[in-house]
Amino acid sequence: MASPSHPDIERVLWTEDDILGRVAELASQISLDFEGGSPPLVVVGVATGAFLFLADIVKRISLPLRVDFVRVESYGSGTESSGAPRISSDLKLDVEGSRVLVVEDIVDTGHTLSALIAHLRSKGAVSVSVCTFLDKPARRKVRLELVGEGKFYRGFECPDCFVVGYGMDFNELYRNLPYVGVLKPKLYS
Ligand code: IMP
Repeated sequence: MASPSHPDIERVLWTEDDILGRVAELASQISLDFEGGSPPLVVVGVATGAFLFLADIVKRISLPLRVDFVRVESYGSGTESSGAPRISSDLKLDVEGSRVLVVEDIVDTGHTLSALIAHLRSKGAVSVSVCTFLDKPARRKVRLELVGEGKFYRGFECPDCFVVGYGMDFNELYRNLPYVGVLKPKLYS
C-alpha cells in the first residue's frame, strides 16, 4: 500500500495509477454496453465530487455523448448524510427520450442517487444508468431503482470509512488530491 503524501491522510486506498487503470476498464465496458447510437447518451455528473472522475471517464468513452451537471445537496459540512437530498442546481439539457448515465463520486446511504434517479425519471429519461467511482454497500439504506434498461457500474468497493481525494472532499478540501485516502478521524470526530 502506498504511503500518504498529505499529513491529514491516514492511508492511501487507491493511487492515481490504480484509479486510471480502473477508469479505463469502466469506460471500455460502458462504450460496449451503450454502442448502437440511439437514443442519445447524456452523461450527468454530480457536482462537485464527480468532476475529476467525469472528466477522466468521458475522455475514454468512444461514443457520441452530451455532458451536463446537477448539484445535489445532502451533506452540509459533516460526514453523515442528511437523508433528505435536494436538487439545488438542475440540468441545462433536456433529457426526455435520452439514455442517461449518472456519474457519481461515491454511493453511501443511496439517498442522493435515489432522489436523482427519481428526478431523471420524471424528466422522461428512457433509461437511467449509474456509474459510481466508489461504492460503500455496507452503509446502504435505500435500494437503487434504475430506470428502463439502466445498468450499475462501480469503480471500487470502499470500506466503511470517510475518504477524500480524486474529487471527494471534507469541508470542500482535499478534492485536488490525485489519489483516494482515508481522512484521519481526529479531523472530524
Ligand atoms: P448518500 O446520499 O449517503 O449516498 O451520499 C452520497 C454523497 O455523500 C456522495 O456524493 C458524496 O458527496 C458524499 N459522501 C459519502 N461518503 C463520502 C466519503 O467517504 N467521502 C466524501 N464524501 C462522501
